[in-house]
Parts: sequence; C-alpha cells; structure tokens
Amino acid sequence: MSGPDSSQRILDHVRRLGEEHPPIALASVDREVHAPRRVAERYGHVIDYLARVELEVDRNVLELLVLLPDVSEVDRMFYADVWQPQEIQHGLILDRLQQDLGRPATEPHLEVSFTIKAMGALAHFSAIQDIARLLYYLTGASTERQAVLAYNVLHDGMTELGEPAIAETIIAPIRRQEPGHFAFYRMSATELVRSGALRPWQMYLARMLREKSYNLVGTNGRDEYRAQMGGVVTALGFDTDLERYAREVGRIEAQLLWAGAQGMEFPPYVLRALRESIDLYRERGFAAA
Ligand SMILES: [Fe+2]
Ligand SMILES: [Fe+2]
Repeated sequence: MSGPDSSQRILDHVRRLGEEHPPIALASVDREVHAPRRVAERYGHVIDYLARVELEVDRNVLELLVLLPDVSEVDRMFYADVWQPQEIQHGLILDRLQQDLGRPATEPHLEVSFTIKAMGALAHFSAIQDIARLLYYLTGASTERQAVLAYNVLHDGMTELGEPAIAETIIAPIRRQEPGHFAFYRMSATELVRSGALRPWQMYLARMLREKSYNLVGTNGRDEYRAQMGGVVTALGFDTDLERYAREVGRIEAQLLWAGAQGMEFPPYVLRALRESIDLYRERGFAAA
C-alpha cells in the first residue's frame, strides 16, 4: 500500500508514539542492584555500548539535518517529538546504571563525520535527497531492530542474575519503546519504495551506497567500535547463529532494496559486517583502541 492512506498511517503512528510513550523519567528507575560486580562482569561492556549509542542520538539528529535538508513534517515530528527525547533518556538511564555498577561514564562520540558533511553537500539535489531518505529509513530499521534484540536478551539476563529492579524498571521500559521506532522506519521505507518515487538509477545507487557503507549499530565506521560490537554480539549470544541474527536485522532491506533477489533473506554485507566485528573482537578484545 502506498499513497495518502499509508502516509496517514505513518502520521497516526508517530502521534500515537508521542502520546503513549512519554520519555522515561530518571526518577522512575529503582536503582537497587544486588550484586553490582557480577552484573558488571557479565554485562558491563554491553551496557556501556548501549549507553553510548543511545546518547549519540544528538549527533544522529545533526547528521539527519545535514543529510535531509528538506526533511518532511512527519519525519521532523518523529525525530524531534518522539525519537530524540526517548533515546536520550535511554542513554542517561543506562549510563547512570553503569556508574552505579562502579564503571566509568560512557563517552559518546558527538562529532559529525567528514563523510556525512560531504554527502550533505550533495543532499541539496532532490534526486539525491530521495536516496538519502531511503538510506536513513533503512539504517533506522536495521539499528532499531538490533536494539530490540539486545534489550530482549538483557532483560532475560538481568532476571536470571536475580536483578529484577534492573530488568523491570530499566530494561523493560526501554525495550517497550524500541519497536515503535523500528515500525516507523519500516513503514516509511516501505512507503517510499512502493510509491515509485525512486527511479531505477536511484535504487541502484542506493544499493551501491548501502553495500559500501553498511554499519552495525554504533560502529560509526571505526574499528574500535566494531571490535566492541563484536563483544556485544558475543556477550548476548548472537554469535552462535549469526545468519539468524543477520536475517532479523537485514530482512527489511533484503525485501525493499534488493527485492528479495534470488530468495535473499538478508544482504550479504550484513553478515560480512557481523563476521568482521567478531573477528576484530577476538583479535583485539573489547577495550582495544
Ligand atoms: Fe533506545
Ligand atoms: Fe530506538
């Protein structure tokens, strides 16, 4: 479905998210931790990684403004009224948790990269703008899916560790907000592709750019973060079935960008990125710069 009906559906979705999911207040968290050292040993680096990624939302907004100078009203409503206010609280809450566990505060990377700035110069051409929009939605869908999967495992893990306050007052409320983000990006990408607004050459360019620039959540094209993400994937147990994880994370773009070419369940670059991250983690460990 595309056209006015699906645009309206997206707008309704964004409004509903704003009404039903206010940002999580820091004061709503029960800070009781029974065994901080045990939690830190098992999940400290995962919490640090997630806190950083969530806090980098402010850079993501800047990048978005550079890449999408003609941002649509519904996109603006989503990032300004829903996404940024929610994600920043996720970051603040997780960062406080890791400090409660005796770990140092996270260090978000807030500088917009040169590549983004360079692409921003091109983004003023409307044909390029449409490609940038599609890539923005696909990136959002892929990263939000990774967040949902991570919080699912963390919730069970904290419960198993006998830390119900963390599981129920931190991870569960955060986890509830991520699927709405994922749905926004999925619906928006679907609508853009189905509307036929992108010419075949634009789809071709989008595929090429995606293949060259695909990044797992929070890796920002840096090996240091790639190694850390390999550590997160390993700690959460996704390394035991990487193809399954790649399917979960890459399914939307396999369908929309590659039209499920030859029964493709995920684009090969998703699995490649996962393997590279895990190899880097095995070589360098989590803390390697
Ligand atoms: Fe989040
Ligand atoms: Fe999110």
